[in-house]
Amino acid sequence: MELKLGRPDLAGVETDALVLLETEGGKRSDLAQALTPLYESGEIAGKFLEFTLLHGVQGFKARRVLVAGAGKPEKLDATGLRRIASAAVRHLKGKGVTSAVFALDGPALGNVATEAGVAAVATGLLAGSWEPDRFKTVKEPGKSVGSVEIAVALTGEGVEKAFERGRIIGEALNLSRDIAVEPPNILTPTAMAERARAMVQGTGLSFEVLDRGRMQQLGMGALLGVAQGSAEPPAFIVMQYKPDKASGDVHLSGIHLGLIGKGVTFDTGGISIKPAEGMEKMKYDMCGGAAVIGAMQAIARLKPNVAVTGIVPAVENMPGSKAQRPGDIVTSLSGKTIEILNTDAEGRLILADAITYALQLGCTHLVDAATLTGAIAVALGHTSSGVFASDDALLERWMSAAKDAGEKMWHMPLDDEYRDQLKTVYADIQNIGGRWGGACSAAMFLKEFSGETPWIHLDVAGTAWLDDEKPFLAKGPTGIPLGSFVNLAMGW
Ligand code: BES
Ligand code: ZN
Ligand code: ZN
Repeated sequence: MELKLGRPDLAGVETDALVLLETEGGKRSDLAQALTPLYESGEIAGKFLEFTLLHGVQGFKARRVLVAGAGKPEKLDATGLRRIASAAVRHLKGKGVTSAVFALDGPALGNVATEAGVAAVATGLLAGSWEPDRFKTVKEPGKSVGSVEIAVALTGEGVEKAFERGRIIGEALNLSRDIAVEPPNILTPTAMAERARAMVQGTGLSFEVLDRGRMQQLGMGALLGVAQGSAEPPAFIVMQYKPDKASGDVHLSGIHLGLIGKGVTFDTGGISIKPAEGMEKMKYDMCGGAAVIGAMQAIARLKPNVAVTGIVPAVENMPGSKAQRPGDIVTSLSGKTIEILNTDAEGRLILADAITYALQLGCTHLVDAATLTGAIAVALGHTSSGVFASDDALLERWMSAAKDAGEKMWHMPLDDEYRDQLKTVYADIQNIGGRWGGACSAAMFLKEFSGETPWIHLDVAGTAWLDDEKPFLAKGPTGIPLGSFVNLAMGW
């Protein structure tokens, strides 16, 4: 979908659909006089995400006017606006609308008719344009809206920049979702590395894929143990962004952010095999990795002042004849030995080696994102991602980055007591805790490898994929936590 920023005259603009925001109880635009009977009859109340599509509205040249409810003006923020923009595009799909104008303008929109609002609308419109139909050979006709112009009264260079930033994040989200929606027979670890390679073309990012041989040389025993049950070879993807020395010198800040995403292209559970029912859902087990690839695209374009390394350990967890067994002991890249008690707790094994590798590359701050445990979805449902942090200052930065991105996060505990669950007499650590607090013992396992370096672990098992579509989001991969990743890098 094409996106533009402009200042058209709202009454005179010729377009298939003009989207007008109306708040609940807020001052109404004089422009929309013709809608007064609809307000008076109570048909349009301005409730959040209430949509009314009207044809041939007096006073407008637009073929249709879509009145988009924005809720109470004092409650409306950038996240709400992003959702409205996204839902508006989704509402217009399949209705023969090829061009639209989204008006970020109105007497009650003072809170959000800002630069941040422009960025939110741009991201939202693009996010709303995405459909999980890549593999349908016959697409529903008229399902896509060709172009949308954001109409603002604001002027200045900052507005253009905000628009660009919103667009770049929206495009990155959709790239990440395009990768994540690929099925596991197509998106093998090798294919995932190819998607990352295609992304870095022309971005200036440096790129490397470590193959199995290289991983053996380095001693990534934890990752290789997971990979050995599959006929598909693993791929360890490394994408690096270095700020331009002329502007914002990396060496002055000394910050080197490491973003790590779980890239299990399919998780059968391995020998500790999962039940058949619902197993197909485990094609989503690379969503953390897909978010890192998308985030690196946005970071390459937005050029933050800090160095950023994106790492995606990509493997398939299969129960082949060479598969690792419960009872195996592997030696991780850190040198620590791990007793495998359950081969389905594979994410933490590949992340352990990825975290150690990131430290070897000199990362000063780490954030990993992983569809790590069913337990986090039991605890938090599908609304918030679980955040585990070893450092309060990084946690504060992260929570603020996530809030701005509209990605809900909930701080979870990482008390030393959880470490007790991982004790074994046969090795340095075992790969599962007990029945209780599964998301916490998984996080505690990872903490063992991040050591003293400020680190955040995000369990996105409940939020990376949407099983039931929402007005503002299609079914399928959500892209979470890409927006937070990018904001964290940009905010430093
Ligand atoms: N990818 C799964 C996490 C998962 C499981 C997400 C179920 C959504 C639903 C992960 O690799 C896994 O299998 N975790 C196990 C850990 C257990 C064996 C300690 C889990 O959560 O059941
Ligand atoms: Zn698993
Ligand atoms: Zn998994």
